[in-house]
Amino acid sequence: MTTLTLITGANRGIGLEFCRQSLAHGDTVIACCRQPEQADALQQLALSHPNQLELVALELGEPAQFDNLCAYLGERKLDRLICNAGVYGPKGLPLGEYQADHFEQVMKINVTAPMLLVQALHPHLAGDAKVALLSSKMGSITDNGSGGSYVYRASKAALNAIGKSLAIDLQPQGTSVVLFHPGWVQTAMGGSNALITPEVSVRGMRHVLEQLSLIDSGKFINYDGVELPW
Ligand SMILES: NC(=O)c1ccc[n+]([C@@H]2O[C@H](COP(=O)([O-])OP(=O)(O)OC[C@H]3O[C@@H](n4cnc5c(N)ncnc54)[C@H](OP(=O)(O)O)[C@@H]3O)[C@@H](O)[C@H]2O)c1
Repeated sequence: MTTLTLITGANRGIGLEFCRQSLAHGDTVIACCRQPEQADALQQLALSHPNQLELVALELGEPAQFDNLCAYLGERKLDRLICNAGVYGPKGLPLGEYQADHFEQVMKINVTAPMLLVQALHPHLAGDAKVALLSSKMGSITDNGSGGSYVYRASKAALNAIGKSLAIDLQPQGTSVVLFHPGWVQTAMGGSNALITPEVSVRGMRHVLEQLSLIDSGKFINYDGVELPW
């Protein structure tokens, strides 16, 4: 049986690389992004992987769309759910200039959306499914040695709290949950000075996912498998 993998933010960056490597591994991939018709790299992958890649429109800021996604899945069960999409919000904003609305979109996409998506999809998870939530070391309170980035840090710390609860609540149905720091990755978000390529980051995270069992569920793990402090 082929592995059924759903990926959010699949059109670029780390999500696109998850698609590439999952397809190369033989998975059937449901690639979610806001505008599939404009997702050129995914369209190319669909051509080279006929019958293996499904493109689905999904705006994570509109949780009503999650019901459509459940209807689209029907009786099919997901083996892997990669909640990858995220936004950074204001960069380099000094203390004194933050406004309430700086938080709204980032919290909606980085926190509310993955929580409600997993909630919606959890009846559609296979017995031994694995859920990956793309967090960040910026969400580690222990690791925060430089301050700033209030919005992004807060969103990923909140996502970590959500992932821990999901791991506990989904344990009885056999689902493992992992919170990933993907490394500092060369994407639009990570920038060109980032230390690793999406290929290296995703190869590492996929390896961790393959090894992941219920015993490790709810951990915060670097792309190379090293456990991180909250
Ligand atoms: N790159 C890094 O160094 C790094 C480090 C730590 C953690 N992370 C985390 O890793 C994940 C992927 O990051 P990345 O570097 O690949 O970022 P990226 O290149 O900026 O890509 C972000 C992805 O999220 C999607 N997205 C944003 N808002 C969305 C929305 N409202 N609805 C649906 N999709 C939406 C984007 O779609 P559009 O193209 O439609 O905008 C895009 O596919 C994020 O959660 C990020 O926080 C990245």
